[in-house]
Amino acid sequence: MSDMDRPTDGGPAGPNDGGNKHAHDRPNDPAAGTPVDEGARGADHVQALASRPPSAEARGRERRTELTVAASFGVTMLSGFALLALYALGGNPQLEGVLLALCLGALGVGIVIWAHDLMPVTILEEPRKRLGSDPTLVASFTDSLQDEAGFSRRTLLVRMLLGAFAGLGAALAVPVLSLGPAPGETLYRTPWRQGSRVVGTNGEPVRADSLPVGGVLTVFPEGHAGSADAQTLLVRVQPQLLELGPEASGWAPSGYVAYSKLCTHAGCPVGLYRAGTHQLVCPCHQSTFDVLRGAVPTAGPAARALPQLPIALQPDGTFVALGDFPEPVGPSFWNMGV
Ligand code: FES
Repeated sequence: MSDMDRPTDGGPAGPNDGGNKHAHDRPNDPAAGTPVDEGARGADHVQALASRPPSAEARGRERRTELTVAASFGVTMLSGFALLALYALGGNPQLEGVLLALCLGALGVGIVIWAHDLMPVTILEEPRKRLGSDPTLVASFTDSLQDEAGFSRRTLLVRMLLGAFAGLGAALAVPVLSLGPAPGETLYRTPWRQGSRVVGTNGEPVRADSLPVGGVLTVFPEGHAGSADAQTLLVRVQPQLLELGPEASGWAPSGYVAYSKLCTHAGCPVGLYRAGTHQLVCPCHQSTFDVLRGAVPTAGPAARALPQLPIALQPDGTFVALGDFPEPVGPSFWNMGV
């Protein structure tokens, strides 16, 4: 039933209206022939509305609604703190999702019920002629406004709402805490250092004679076998075919050249090598890199060459790094703004 449909006099009372949801008085009726003081009549009208007591049934219904709202806020508070506690104890993604849904859902339910069933929706009509405010009317209006706001007489709900917000704050702390420490310089460095021995996936040093011309091997710095950002492709080509710059030429002894295995497009491992054309190919989006010319991209979405690792061949036939990669490995994103 809409407000306009509700009875204006003598009908059943709603939970909020104290028995009068819809006050609709007629202004001065000229037909009655009796002059009426508009200001006094308006004051009486508002006072009458404010002082009319709700029925016992309405009070009971209102009380039950208040308890429902308080329970909703209580669920929000408890589930929020439970989520934080669960996260601190190690976490469980499924349970955390359920608790977060409870926390937000119960808060929404409580607010909607409060707004819909407990906030008064009183329509007052008051005839006006004088612009000046009558002090009695102002005082009466202030009292009724405070009462109608629905807050001053609902201390329990306000406290539960504050508790619910505290629980919500606890729940929202979880994603913030999950951010972890800032990456700092780690995005710009790999475990490769000057003097790092070049080892295979088994952690054993790679020997030059174990790699034929046209061969490729995934290598790591000693002590970091399997490291995601240090994974490197050691490729052997005919040394006279290489077209590297003066500095990079010194990093490719006897035709052994090492490039980062992380694709500069989106970070996939560049796992395919076409020995016939000396091309490394990323299987994700088919970026192609020219091994002979410093692994510059020749096809696909990658816009940056694979960084070349400076290496040296040792007298015993093994390799060592001369330092870290000269630039960040992986997606070009890390290079933006540098
Ligand atoms: S990640 Fe290599 S081409 Fe997209």
